[in-house]
Amino acid sequence: MNLINLKEKLLIFLAQSGAYTKSLNMSTSTIAQHLGTSQQSASRILIQLEQNGYIEKIIVGKTTLIRLTNKGLDELKNLYIVLKSIFEKPVEIILEGRVFSGLGEGFYYISLPQYFEQIKEKVGFTPYPGTLNIQLLSKDSIENRMLLEKIADIPIDGFSNGQRTYGGAKCIRALFNGEQEAALIFVERTHYGRDVVEVIAPVYLRGKYNLRDGDKVFVKVTLKTSTLNNNILTAEAK
Ligand code: CDP
Repeated sequence: MNLINLKEKLLIFLAQSGAYTKSLNMSTSTIAQHLGTSQQSASRILIQLEQNGYIEKIIVGKTTLIRLTNKGLDELKNLYIVLKSIFEKPVEIILEGRVFSGLGEGFYYISLPQYFEQIKEKVGFTPYPGTLNIQLLSKDSIENRMLLEKIADIPIDGFSNGQRTYGGAKCIRALFNGEQEAALIFVERTHYGRDVVEVIAPVYLRGKYNLRDGDKVFVKVTLKTSTLNNNILTAEAK
C-alpha cells in the first residue's frame, strides 16, 4: 500500500493490531518500522491523528497506550465501503457487431443430442438449433471477446460417436440486445477468427428481432468485478 498517506496507513495498522477494541502499548519505533519512516515522523503522525480525534493516547506511568476513537473507526469504515463498492459492483461487458450467415453448421452441431442435452442442462435453456454469428466491429469488442472466452464458465464436453470425434466448447450466459436470455458459445474447433462470436438462445433471434445479414446487434455479459480482476491479473502474468 504505497499510495495511501502515512496517517491512513497508521490507522489501518492500529486497527489490524486490534486498537479498536483495546488500548495498545505500541512504541514509536514499531510504528516507524511499519511506516518506513523515522521515529520523529512516526510520533509527529501520532500527534496529528490525536489532534484530529482519530486516536486517543492514554499515558500510564512510562507507557503510552493507543486506541482508535469512534471517529477513527468511522474513517476506516468509510474507506472499506468505498473499496467494497468498487470491488463488488458488477461490470457489464458488451460485444457489438453485425449479423452474418455461415454454412449451416450451427444448426447441425446444436441439433446433435450430445450437445443439445448438455446445453439444456448446463446453460439452462432449450437452445434454438443454430448459432447466430456476429462479426465484431471494434477493437474493444474483440478484446472483450477474448476476455470472455477465458472467463466462460460452462464447459460443453466433446464426444465421439465411433466414427468421428466432436470437439468441446465453452459457454457464458449473456443477454442478447441487452434483454433476451442467451449465451455465447466458444467452440474449440472453429474456423472463425477472433473477430467473430456465436450466440445461442432459446428463441429464433432473427425472427424475434427481424434480423438480416449486416444488422447491428449487441450482447451483454454481466460479471462480478472480482472475476474480472482475477482474469485480468492472470492474463497480465502470462
Ligand atoms: O448458417 P449459420 O451458421 O449462419 O446458421 P446456423 O447456426 O445453422 O443457424 C440457422 C439460422 O438461425 C441462421 O440464420 C442463424 O443466424 C439463425 N439463428 C437465430 O436466429 N437464432 C438463434 N438462436 C440461432 C440461430
